[in-house]
Amino acid sequence: MLAIIGGTGLTQLSNLEITHRQVIRTPFGEPSGALTFGLINQHEVMFIARHGYGHTIPPHMVNYRANMWALQEQGATRIVSVASVGGIRSDLLPGTIVVPDQIIDYTHGRFSTYFDGREKPVTHIDFTHPYCLKMRGHILEAARMAREKLVDGGVYAATQGPRLESAAEINRIERDGADMVGMTGMPEAALAKELGLSYAALAVVVNYAAGRGNSRDGVHLEAVSIVAQPAMARVKKVLEMLVESDGD
Ligand code: HPA
Repeated sequence: MLAIIGGTGLTQLSNLEITHRQVIRTPFGEPSGALTFGLINQHEVMFIARHGYGHTIPPHMVNYRANMWALQEQGATRIVSVASVGGIRSDLLPGTIVVPDQIIDYTHGRFSTYFDGREKPVTHIDFTHPYCLKMRGHILEAARMAREKLVDGGVYAATQGPRLESAAEINRIERDGADMVGMTGMPEAALAKELGLSYAALAVVVNYAAGRGNSRDGVHLEAVSIVAQPAMARVKKVLEMLVESDGD
């Protein structure tokens, strides 16, 4: 089954016909909220709001392990993560939707593995391609069918938050090779790999990163929802097509 993780700006799916909600407990604690089950165009999907349905859980406090565990336990085999980002690369203007293909992790102090020596022996997963290539292909194909333009590829920098970055940090992150910056992409992607889930992301650019474009003198958070709303409507159109792909 396809699971959708909604981020900032996507705490519910208006095109989801809800059938039931389920509270799940996991060996790693509680997920961000109940899992929502429902139908999009007759296809069963699962949804969870990463920051909680009331948007109360900051990025560094999200229980990523519980979220991914719960989704898998309830039958998710593929996961599309929707996340908002700040744009660094010059073509990633606010409103752009990107399917990233690489990650740089700047987060710290988060529970970032299931292999912590307690229940399972230490295992080093391969992370050369942090996102599932097949899943990325399905998303890009869904976008073509929905006639929505997505950017194919880009390096996602995961920062710790919850504060935004300084302009110098963005310059450094760009020198490192990142194209966009968000706070929730890690450890989510690594945990998905550990569980053997097909995982890819839709990164919605909601602002210029600090020091860039109209964020030169500061990031204007009040403008974010104006950009996010129409972009999330486009994300939903892509998701409607994505559910049609069978996942093979
Ligand atoms: N930085 C980090 N995370 C973000 C940003 C940003 O500028 N915009 C949305 N999420």
